[in-house]
Order: sequence, then structure tokens, then C-alpha cells
Amino acid sequence: MKKLVLDLDVGIDDTLAVAYALASPEVELVGITTTYGNVTTEQSTANALAVCALLGAPDVPVYPGLPCASFAEDFTVQPVSAFIHGKNGVGEVDVPASDRAPQGQGAVDFIVEAVHRWGKDLIYVPTGPLTNFDAAIAQDPSIVDEVGAVVLMGGALTVPGNVTPWSEANISQDPDAADRVFRSGIPATMIGLDVTLQTLLTYRETALWRETGTEAGKRLADITDYYIKAYETTAPHLHGCGLHDPLACAVAVDPSLVECLPINMMVDVEGPTRGRTIGNPELLNDPNKTMEVAVRVDVARFLDEFMGRITRLVSS
Ligand code: BDR
Ligand code: CA
Repeated sequence: MKKLVLDLDVGIDDTLAVAYALASPEVELVGITTTYGNVTTEQSTANALAVCALLGAPDVPVYPGLPCASFAEDFTVQPVSAFIHGKNGVGEVDVPASDRAPQGQGAVDFIVEAVHRWGKDLIYVPTGPLTNFDAAIAQDPSIVDEVGAVVLMGGALTVPGNVTPWSEANISQDPDAADRVFRSGIPATMIGLDVTLQTLLTYRETALWRETGTEAGKRLADITDYYIKAYETTAPHLHGCGLHDPLACAVAVDPSLVECLPINMMVDVEGPTRGRTIGNPELLNDPNKTMEVAVRVDVARFLDEFMGRITRLVSS
């Protein structure tokens, strides 16, 4: 069975990615590494532990990640994150804290160790900034050739960004780290806003989780409704919330959910377009392409899998 590591800034859609992973018998979630973005790394770690307990998986190891971007000295939560994910990252819902401590080993060391241990069986899914992964590659560049697959949520190819007209949130937190990862030659699939903003969830679906009557069902519905409400204000034309992180997780489980273009990507790190994900013009004619960029998604099949799996998980 494939082993999965999620790297999360937990986060409402990060929480839904955890639920999707736990509801997928095709993969084993062997660890969660944490990062900053929607909340601080510390809060993300506490949320990862709490969410795993809520969803009936109290033993998934959680490895605390780096506290801020590779170019910065500290991290301040952006007010927009609190508006979209709640100050606590889980929609102001009171998810009981776990009494379990995070692992003593840090995220960067764990990522390197996990790649060496599971090799081609390992799928790494970062759904926050790429700071931990960049540091792991710097620590041991051999992981680039050893890892089985990387499916990252971040960036945009054909649509505007969601924090600036150019830049998507995860990439914009640490464009330098993202650029180094993109140029490292690591084989990766980019699940950007091009596809994630096509996969939308509404109150109609979360009501089904609430109707299960379980603690997990009710709380997951309340958490997700906060996110849907934020989208009503920030992107009313969408009529639902974007399932960014769970789509990346779903593609890790079943790559046939998306169609991709092979492109060697890079990230603008200078000037007003800092954080933009674009094709690397220097590698335009290189026949070897390291990145698969998702440009189409089977929306109906994904939503069907998403609802079926997560509803079963919270019903049990
Ligand atoms: C990404 O940014 C975060 O706020 C979400 O959790 C998702 O990973 C979407 O741009
Ligand atoms: Ca995220």
C-alpha cells in the first residue's frame, strides 16, 4: 500500500484533506508535517492532533514544521486567513484539543527519513507553503530522485491568484522556497487554482454530515460552513467553497481525476509578480518535463468520491 505524508497549515480545507486521506483505504497516512499559513505552525500542529482525534485516528504521528518562510524571521497570520479559516484555523469551532504531544522529531528530518524509508511507495502532499520541503531537499538532495510522487496544492497557471492578481496563497507565503522546489527537478503534480476552484462544496453537502448525528459529522459540518460563508463574501460568484487541499489529496490517491500538461515550472521571485507560477522559458525546449500541471478535473467524479468517502468516515 502507498504511504502518504500530508504537509498542512491546518486550515479548514487542510482538515478536509486529512478526512479524505483517512477515508481512503488505498493509502496509509503515515505522518502529518505541519507548516504556517492559515495559522501559525504551532496552531497547525495542535489542530492536526485535534482533527485526527476527532476523525477517529488518534495515532497518526504529527511532526512540527518550520515556523516561517525561508526569507523571513517570523510569521504573522494574515487577517484574511482568520476571515476565511477562523482565528483558530478550524472555523471558530471548538474541536477538543488532543492530549497527545507532537513527535519530538521535526518535520524536515521526518520528510527526509520518510523518503529514504518508503522510497517510491511514498506520496508527499504539501498543501501549505513549501518551506519544509525546500529545507528537506537542501538537507538531503537525494530525496529528489527517491520520492515516489509529490502532489502539491499551490499556484495557478491560467487563472488569477487568490491573494494578489498574480499569486496563490501557498506559493505567496514563500515564493523563494517554491521556486527552489520547482527547479529542483523533483517530479511533481501541481494542483493549482485552475482546477481547485472548479470543485466547490455547498451547505447542501455539509448538511449530510450533520445529519449523521455523530460528533465528527456535526463538527466537520460546522467547520466547513464557516469556510463556505467566507466564500460567500470573498467570491460570491462561485456559489460554494473551493476544495483546494482535498483535491490534491484525492489526486494522490487517484491521479486519473485530473488531466495535466507537462511543464517545467518556476516562480517569479522579484517585482510585483512575486509569487506567480509560470513555465520556465529557459527550459521551454527541454524534452524532459518534471512537473505535471493539472488543467482539467473530473468534477462530478471527484465530488462523488469526496462526499462518499467523508460521509462514510464521519458516520462510523
Ligand atoms: C490554499 O491556501 C490556503 O489558505 C488553503 O488551505 C489552500 O491550501 C488555497 O490557495
Ligand atoms: Ca492549506
